[in-house]
Amino acid sequence: MTDRVRITVFDTSLRDGEQSPGCSMNQQEKLRLAHQLDRLGVDVIEAGFPIASEGDFEAVRAISAVVRRPIIAALSRACRPDIERAWQALQGAARPRIHVFLATSDIHLQYKLRMTRDECLAQARDAVRLAKSLCDDVEFSPEDATRTEPDFLCRVLDAVVEAGATTLNIPDTVGYTMPTEFGDLIATIRRRVKGIEKVTISAHCHNDLGLAVANTLAAIAAGARQVECTINGIGERAGNASLEEIVMAMRVRPDRYPYETSVVGEHLFGASQLLSEITGVPVQPNKAITGRNAFAHEAGIHQDGVLKNPLTYEIMTPQSVGVPDSTLVLGKHSGRHALAMRCEQLGYQFNRRALDDIYRRFVRLADRIKHVEDHHLLELIRETHKPAASATPLIERIPTALAAAASTGSHEPPVRPLVFPTAENGAGGPVSVSADHHEQEDYLWGV
Ligand code: KIV
Ligand code: ZN
Repeated sequence: MTDRVRITVFDTSLRDGEQSPGCSMNQQEKLRLAHQLDRLGVDVIEAGFPIASEGDFEAVRAISAVVRRPIIAALSRACRPDIERAWQALQGAARPRIHVFLATSDIHLQYKLRMTRDECLAQARDAVRLAKSLCDDVEFSPEDATRTEPDFLCRVLDAVVEAGATTLNIPDTVGYTMPTEFGDLIATIRRRVKGIEKVTISAHCHNDLGLAVANTLAAIAAGARQVECTINGIGERAGNASLEEIVMAMRVRPDRYPYETSVVGEHLFGASQLLSEITGVPVQPNKAITGRNAFAHEAGIHQDGVLKNPLTYEIMTPQSVGVPDSTLVLGKHSGRHALAMRCEQLGYQFNRRALDDIYRRFVRLADRIKHVEDHHLLELIRETHKPAASATPLIERIPTALAAAASTGSHEPPVRPLVFPTAENGAGGPVSVSADHHEQEDYLWGV
């Protein structure tokens, strides 16, 4: 049992996330992702915006019917037709939530909604009242909160709390705020809004300046207890705060963020891969937590350190986020330790002299191609150690599953699928490893 404060994780991949270009999903795909989010342990799934389209309505309905553990939220503008449609879509949900939003910044009131502040306040209050008459769990979002005049923002929030809102979500709709500023805004809301102790404050940050996760963490430190986020950080424009980054930041740094979530870390990678597979939008290789390179070490000094003790260069284990294994990419910066390790995995153990020999050739090859893959290495081993080359064998063949797969050209999934991405070199076929150029300095000698 831990005494850490619990943070509610509200996933909006199926709503705000789906609004990102190229990320729209059909109903079956939404259902698959919703099941994965359930397995992942999120507390709330925002399943869609039912008034927006028939497809959205049906998706919210279908998810409500079969995903029973998390709260299912449906988005709605602050008007009767939207609220009633959202409620209709949520009919089968075990734990429904209506999420009402209305812009409150002067820019939005003047140019988009063409209404006064007083009209806005009255509409927000009436809409929450209507939603509350249908559903106990009502969330209200003052859109563009971070560009809203703070006194007016607090007046709107006073009114919606009085009307029955149970969650106040504070969106940084345009990704404009800074961490300390956003933390201050949450603190102001906590200090000034009447009845705030009865409701949950939530943060909803966009990533236009690359600060969505930092702003979300600042909000938590200032008292927010719900975070709205998406898998892989997908969402409008530059995206939303990434779920996996928020969760792992708190998990890796409990000294700074003594909070817990119900997210099962081991399912993070699977959720990221599934979303990418469904949308066809790849995860950028250097994406924190779930990118292909998030646990890849190419520099020799790093590889050597990780092999001796992963703590040297890894602040979390790949397994803790569901990545099959740490990735040692063999390239020109790799050291002999990593090379020996990979050869062993392929079934070859070298004595010191043989390893020196193969290492020199390996560096020359790596200088010509980007990543040295298993088949390159096997060819290099064969070239270097032809059977008749030595009376006493310098290499010893050891049986491993990986070796069997590599030498038979098996199409079985590799043991560590991320280790050597295929076609990375643009070289599907064998690369000649035997071309002997001038001796290159073994600059990683001893690493
Ligand atoms: O970014 C935003 O303001 C939103 C609201 C609808 C919550 O997505
Ligand atoms: Zn948003």
